[in-house]
This record gives sequence, structure tokens and C-alpha cells, in this order.
Amino acid sequence: MLQRPRRNRKSAVIRDMVQENHISAANLIFPLFIVDGQGQKTEVSSMPGIFRYSIDNLLREIESCLKLGLKSFDLFPNIEDSLKDKLATVSYKKGSLYLRAIEEVKKNFPEACVVTDVAMDPYSSDGHDGLVHNGEILNDETLEILGKMALAHAEAGADIIAPSDMMDGRIGYIRELLDTHGFKQVSLMSYTAKYASAFYGPFRDALNSAPKAGDKKSYQMNPANSREALIEAQLDMQEGADFLMVKPGLPYLDIVKLLHDNFDLPIAVYNVSGEYAMLKAAVQNGWLDEQRSIMETLLSFRRAGATSILTYHAKEVLEKGWLKA
Ligand code: PBG
Repeated sequence: MLQRPRRNRKSAVIRDMVQENHISAANLIFPLFIVDGQGQKTEVSSMPGIFRYSIDNLLREIESCLKLGLKSFDLFPNIEDSLKDKLATVSYKKGSLYLRAIEEVKKNFPEACVVTDVAMDPYSSDGHDGLVHNGEILNDETLEILGKMALAHAEAGADIIAPSDMMDGRIGYIRELLDTHGFKQVSLMSYTAKYASAFYGPFRDALNSAPKAGDKKSYQMNPANSREALIEAQLDMQEGADFLMVKPGLPYLDIVKLLHDNFDLPIAVYNVSGEYAMLKAAVQNGWLDEQRSIMETLLSFRRAGATSILTYHAKEVLEKGWLKA
């Protein structure tokens, strides 16, 4: 045998020397859940170690992340049912929870990168990402609401706006609106290929944002399809996206690779709530080694071609010293 691949695996030094992919704190974006009130820090039951924070505690949490070298955060609000309506008006109302959270984070930690989520579901009495009329999700009417939301986020200081709604044309619509209002430097991270997935369950528990009727299959993608992701990516690219995101993560690594190989924009991946819950449940049962399974998961995203990883594991991997900042 002239070729013996095991020679390159014979010692830790050589294994490290030939290692192709690495994860660093710079690749990680930490999703954080926000709730109104003061002194709140409530664990999400299906996501051990993940909490809903009131703004005061959110600031403490972000401060401790920054000390660990974790600098990017994606914020999601839990809105009281009484504040929700069909038009998601509280999403862009001055002084509302989410806008205050963005302002406070940027005021206290200008160095933090704040990613904001644009979609109607946490604020909508229908629990859908778009406007519901006679059981239908209206596309173009929804764009106007998403536009108002995105502008309000930009005014509050968002660094990156991430539309997660999957309406057609929203990237172009929001890009133009931001540009004409003087927010040319605010980035757009598009949820390009967001699938109608079972793995968002714990997130919807955390935000109390599940659809009141029907499902999201008329706007989120069919898990059986991959070529559709190319159409979505091409549109996002033409419409001015700065990042293309794939979501969920592990069951869609082929899509991460597909977009990476066909487009030159940075690729983000969302390691979603259900993936987190699944891993933690197995760890709690003693069925998986926590450190190894988390690090292998994160590395697989880098290998597939993602530069930016939205993951609920972001803080723990730094806190536990599994990753150097
Ligand atoms: C909503 C949104 C969802 C997630 C991020 N933004 C859920 C959904 O589409 O129902 C899911 C994130 C996760 O599961 O961790 N626009």
C-alpha cells in the first residue's frame, strides 16, 4: 500500500496540522429571548439552560457573553397575548418591548452586534408570519408591515436585520426602504431557505408564538425540496441580501453546502430550538457525551460551508472552555 491515510491521523499534532475546519467565537450568534417586566429570568422548559430575560437581565447576560468573547446576539420577544393584533402593530410601536431592548443593548454595549428578527408571528393574534385574511396569508400586504418593523429596528440601532417570514420579495422591499431612509449600512441576513420544520416547537413554546390555525407550509419550504433553495438564494442575492441563511441546521447540511457552492455571499445556518432540545435531552439521559456532540455539531456547519452559526450553544461552549475566544 503506497497510500495509508491513517499516517495523517497517527498523532494529535498531525491530526491538528491537517484539520481543515475550525470554529471560533467569531462564527457564533447567540439567540436570546426577551420578556417584559423586571428581574425576570425564566427557563424555557423544553430548552434547559435557555431563559427568557427582562431587559435588565438581558443586559447582564449580554455583558457576561461579551466578557467571554461572544459578540453577536439575535433577539426574539415574548409578547403578552393582550398586546397582539391581526396587524402586529406592537412590532413597530415606539417604546415597545423589542425596540427598547435593541436601544438598551446598543446604548450599553455599542460593540455588540445586534441581529433583529423581522416577522409578524410573535406579535400577531393569528400566530402567523404574515397577515391572515380568510385563512390565507397575504404576501404583498405583509411586506408593508415587515417594512415598518425593519425601519423601527434600524432606528433603534440594529446592526443586522434578519427577515424570517419567507414572504416573496421582502428582501428587496426592505432594502429599498432602509436605503431611502438613510440606513444604507444596516445589513440584511435573509432566512433564504427556511423549511416548514417540526424542529421549531420549543421556540414557539418560548415565545408563545405558534399559529392559532393552520400551519406555515404556504410560505416556509417543503423539507423534501432542495432546488427551490437555489431560486430563493438567487432572488435574495438580486434583492440585496448580505447573508444567506439556511434553517434548520443539522437536517439541512446539504442545503448549506448547496448554497455555499453556488453563491459567494456568506452562509449562515440556524441550529434551531428542536435540535438543541434533542441534544440536551439525550445528554440529560446520559445517552450522549455533551461536549463531543455539541462540538461535532458546530464543526459540521463549518464543514458544510457556513461562516455564521446561530446556536443556543454559543455561550456554553465558551463558558465551559471548549472553544478559545
Ligand atoms: C419566526 C421564527 C421561528 C424561528 C425563528 N424565527 C419559528 C417559526 O418560524 O415558527 C425558529 C427558531 C428556533 O426554532 O430556534 N419567524
